[in-house]
Amino acid sequence: MRLSEKQLKESTDYLKTKGFEQPEIGIVLGTGLGQLVEAIENPITAHYNNIPFFPLATVEFHSGKLIYGNIEGKKVVVMQGRFHLYEGYDFTDVTYPIRVMHRLGIKKLFVSNAAGAINLDFKKGDIMLIEDHINLQGSSPLAFGNVANFGDRFVDMSEPYDLQMRQKIEAIASKEEIKLKKGVYASVVGPQLETKAEYRMLKIIGADAVGMSTVPEVIVANHLRLPIVAVSVLTDECDPEDLQPVNIQEIIEIAGKTEPKMIKLFKELIKEI
Ligand code: HPA
Repeated sequence: MRLSEKQLKESTDYLKTKGFEQPEIGIVLGTGLGQLVEAIENPITAHYNNIPFFPLATVEFHSGKLIYGNIEGKKVVVMQGRFHLYEGYDFTDVTYPIRVMHRLGIKKLFVSNAAGAINLDFKKGDIMLIEDHINLQGSSPLAFGNVANFGDRFVDMSEPYDLQMRQKIEAIASKEEIKLKKGVYASVVGPQLETKAEYRMLKIIGADAVGMSTVPEVIVANHLRLPIVAVSVLTDECDPEDLQPVNIQEIIEIAGKTEPKMIKLFKELIKEI
């Protein structure tokens, strides 16, 4: 998809007509992380398939909707299910909802994902606050001709994850006695999982976790100068010296079991900002 003002306006107008008025916070929910929607008060739902120019949701365990409502007294818009490059979408598609939420008025972005643990001090069921990332997806959501019409071309990435919100979430984790790891997230295209050699490489280059999302959205949010907080729910341990065959069902199950901790962190952070 080519990004255009006209399309962004049509998508945004549709949502405003449905009542998506001035959300303060946008939230992206990753694979297996749908329970937060139960905390949304007075929800208004828009299915991706009905939003003009939205990509269509394809992967069965992503239910594909944008939900507007209140959490902890703040207006939020939540993406239940995101778009991935591995579904065949391009970088503009997978980041389009971020631009739409920005047009709706969000001032901050919360992002979550399910990821594999590269750092073997981290265990499945841990939550990792993303402090930095490595883009291994081979291109950028900002690599298009008229990008300068939408913001800077050469976007600064010296601190892509907002320091203040990171500090707040760390304080919340310690108060709530939630063990919070911190580290670097590497994004790959997928959908195949990594080989042993790839896991070795990821460790060497400084990744603590690996997944197939988040980085394009974070780059675009930086393009839009939106402060971001992002967490990985670690669903499997990627030990190249003892690699077990992947079990997607287990990954989704562990994401679901770990999500209540993530919800607690996000809700408390919403309260505080
Ligand atoms: N790679 C390895 N393990 C994972 C991933 C991934 O992309 N996502 C969740 N667990």
